[in-house]
Order: sequence, then structure tokens, then C-alpha cells
Amino acid sequence: MRLTRIAGTGHYLPENVVTNQDLEKLMDTTDEWIQARTGIKERRFVEPGTGSTDLGLLAARAALEEAGWEPEDIQFIVFATLSPDMYFPGNGVLLQKELGLGEVGALDVRNQCTGFIYGLSAADAYIRMGMYDRILLVGAEVHSAGMQMNTEGRDTAVLFGDGAGAVCLEVTDNSDSSHIIWHHLHSDGRFAEELCMYVPSAKRRPWLTKEMIDEGLIYPHMNGREVFRHAVVKFHAVIMEALEAQGLSVESLKLVIPHQANERITEGVRKRLGLSNETVYSNIARYGNTTAASIPIALSEVVKDGTIERGDFVCLVAFGSGFTWGSSLFYY
Ligand code: UT7
Repeated sequence: MRLTRIAGTGHYLPENVVTNQDLEKLMDTTDEWIQARTGIKERRFVEPGTGSTDLGLLAARAALEEAGWEPEDIQFIVFATLSPDMYFPGNGVLLQKELGLGEVGALDVRNQCTGFIYGLSAADAYIRMGMYDRILLVGAEVHSAGMQMNTEGRDTAVLFGDGAGAVCLEVTDNSDSSHIIWHHLHSDGRFAEELCMYVPSAKRRPWLTKEMIDEGLIYPHMNGREVFRHAVVKFHAVIMEALEAQGLSVESLKLVIPHQANERITEGVRKRLGLSNETVYSNIARYGNTTAASIPIALSEVVKDGTIERGDFVCLVAFGSGFTWGSSLFYY
């Protein structure tokens, strides 16, 4: 039987720490408001000139090292981001070039906060079906470039941070040890405009004008309360869906790694599942919401600090723009 295992994890955070107090100087906000509403204390921002491919490259190198792979071992790349270096082509091919690989395929995933889970499911399916034996999956974001860093944009500007995470995925035939179990993916496009960025848009002529920029259409638009309301319900539902499909219990989970959207969302989900603080991972205080990068950053951290060990039962879960949401279960 062909299954997929996580052979290595890696992450990279830019050195530049931006605290809530730093943001107080740019907009009408307070450290108290940000911490109370989101749990965020600080986040990382890149220096101008650094893109999400650069961050993804550093995370990928760390994952390769942990897996004991050489770049030539990579047979395929999956890259999840909503903040690519270029409108097209996607970051996948840019990373392929930076890693100095041969002409391996590269797939770009556009599923925002759920991007890593969608990417993981695609990579897992390729490996199971025998198309590839070793795939590099990256989630990376540079949000600092696209935020409206003033009072008008404060509802989103305080939430997001830059960073990258990566995993090396390889084939295994041993269902008694490390392997990915299954994924559950969902979307509901009725809510597309609850969290979106309107332009550049090929529906418009021209697709980007100074007026659109002045109107703020190049910045993320979010109905925070609506996103929050759906997130709490869907996070819980898609974890339960995954466990029930396998006949496994919440108690058997060693760790849940949720996408880091808001500490209050994570806390709500944790309480509803009846799990302890230690069983639901949170690092949002340090990095904010890094969208497609948040789960692989967290996964890499818990591998490095020994929170999870080989064979532990883990659930990844995400919800975000689309709306899209999903979960993945695996034995690490
Ligand atoms: O990864 C998925 C992506 N996004 C999410 O998951 C976000 C989900 N939503 C949330 O996390 C929360 O809705 C937010 C943290 C975005 C906002 O928290 P909230 O408790 O829903 O606040 P609110 O939007 O209802 O705003 C409350 C007040 C408003 O003032 P008024 O109208 O009550 O006078 C806002 O104008 O807080 C004001 N406000 C701020 N005040 C200080 C909004 N942003 C800020 C800010 N600093 N940064």
C-alpha cells in the first residue's frame, strides 16, 4: 500500500519583530485592544525587497535538512500563498529556480488560510497514486506588503504577519508507523466577499486604476464578525467529521494544530472539543496570522521542541477566505 509520511519540517520567520506598541504609532489602536480581541502581541515583517518565495526557500531548506534530503530528491513542488511575488507565474516555479532543481513540476495553491491543508491533500494524493515519491510542500506569506497600515485599515492590519513553513513528504508502505490518514475539504463561495481582495480583477477594465487604489480596493476587505462566527462552527465541525470518518475519538488526539486566526477562535474550538490547553497549539501571540504559513510554522515548531514525537496522532485544521475550510489527520 502506498501512503505518505512527513519526512521533515522547517520554518522561517523574518527577524524584524513588530509589536502592538509599534502599530500604535501608525494607527488608532492599542495593545490592550489587539491582545484582548486577538491574543496577538507581536508579529514579524520582512524588509522591503524580500518576497514570499525568499521566505519559502529558507523554510524549504530547513525542511530538507531535517528530512536528510538533497534538493535533487524533490520530484514535485506545491506552493500555497495568497501573497505571491508576481501576479503570475506563481511562487512554485520561482522556488524551483531558487532551489536549482531540474524541470520538476510546480503547483500553486490559492486557498488562503486553508492553503496548506489543500496543498497537503493534493501532495498526499499524488504520492498515494504513485505519481511521485517525494514532494516539497511550502506555505509562505508576506502580508506586510499588502496591508493598509493606518487607522482605516486597522481591522486587518493588526492581524497579519509574515513567515513561512515547509514539509518534505515521502512515500511509505508501513501503515503501522508515521503516515497521513485522510483529509476533509470544504468551501462555500456564497461568502467570498466576506474576506477578499477585489483588485487587480480581470472583470474590470482596466483591471487596476489609481481610483481603485484610492478607494482601498487593493487592500484586504474583511467582515471580521461574520468570519469569526463561521470559523468557530466550521473548525469544530471539520475536526469531528474527520474523527468520526475514522472511528477515532477526540481523546485519542495528541495535538490539534489549528490555523492561527485568532486566539479567541482557537480557545472557543478547544473548549467545545473539551481539550486541555496543551492539546491545542497556539503561537499567534508571537506571529499573528500568517495565513498559508501558520500551520507549517506551528508543525515545525512542535517537532523541534518535542511536543510531538513519531507516531503521535495529530489533527491539522483551518478556516478562512472563500470561505474554505478543511482538516487533515496523521500519525506523525
Ligand atoms: O484567518 C481567517 C482570517 N480572519 C479571521 O479569522 C478574523 C476573524 N475575526 C476576528 O478575529 C475579529 O472579528 C476581529 C479581531 C477582526 C475583530 O474583533 P471583533 O471583536 O469582532 O471587533 P469588531 O470588528 O466588532 O469591532 C469592534 C470595535 C469597532 O468599533 P465600534 O464600531 O464598536 O466603535 C471597531 O471599529 O473595535 C474597533 N476596531 C479597533 N479598535 C482598535 C477594529 N479594529 C480595531 C483596532 N484597534 N485594530
